[in-house]
Amino acid sequence: MRTVNTITAVRRLVEFQRDKGKVISLVPTMGYLHQGHLSLVSIARRRSDYVVVSLYVNPTQFGPHEDLAQYPRDLDRDLELLRHAETDLVFHPSDHEMYPLDHHTVVRVTMLSQVLCGRSRPHHFEGVTTIVMKLLNIVEPDIAVFGEKDFQQAVIIKRMVRDLHCRVKILTGKTIREKDGLAMSSRNTYLSPGERKNAPILYQMLQWAKKRFAAGMRSSDRVLTTMAKKIQAKGGLIDYAVAVDPDTLQRVTILKKGTLIALAVNFGKTRLIDNITL
Ligand code: PAF
Repeated sequence: MRTVNTITAVRRLVEFQRDKGKVISLVPTMGYLHQGHLSLVSIARRRSDYVVVSLYVNPTQFGPHEDLAQYPRDLDRDLELLRHAETDLVFHPSDHEMYPLDHHTVVRVTMLSQVLCGRSRPHHFEGVTTIVMKLLNIVEPDIAVFGEKDFQQAVIIKRMVRDLHCRVKILTGKTIREKDGLAMSSRNTYLSPGERKNAPILYQMLQWAKKRFAAGMRSSDRVLTTMAKKIQAKGGLIDYAVAVDPDTLQRVTILKKGTLIALAVNFGKTRLIDNITL
């Protein structure tokens, strides 16, 4: 496994592999890796010959009062995990490498970026699509892999790739969970012991919604109201609890197969998101 910090070095190493006819994959991450990230690396491993993982805490996707400074980082541990996961190349750039001082260009996917998480994090997805577009242009992978926990992010990236005629194929990996159902996230480390104990209510409620749907319930209002009440009873502050069309992310009132139920909930200072497809 090689670790490099510059765009020139990534291009040189990837080009060498591409010239040999190898299929190239990219797994973009912000580091502080967990089993969720490693499952994406393993998808990339199975589907390609040369796996590139980026480790970069992208400042432009954090709001001014968000957790950029506190975002957990542990490069040595990340590199060790990636070595075990048979990664070929790690790209760990500096801010200056990714955003030169006179950087003025952003990539914005309208509509899809303004709903759900986009309401409380207005510039978040613009930061995500800008950095992902940069990484795609640097690595020029055949495939790129993203997690389904960040469902909205995956939908937006797929739309960006389609709209901008990028050649890359976007794959997604299932949400990986702790034993008690909590979706793995680097931000789970912020939870106090009490909040951590209550946080699995998100997944419990998503599963409950799925069961109600299987039993014939079709009213999204009825399902979502009960979900919200139970989550609030465990100390969660709801940002949103919605049923949406999985492609347009527009709200639906009648549940059907394929509807996405998505949650964003604050436990103390920690914002958790999770979702389930009916
Ligand atoms: O999902 C993430 O960790 C980030 O949003 C991503 C895709 C690596 C872009 O910084």
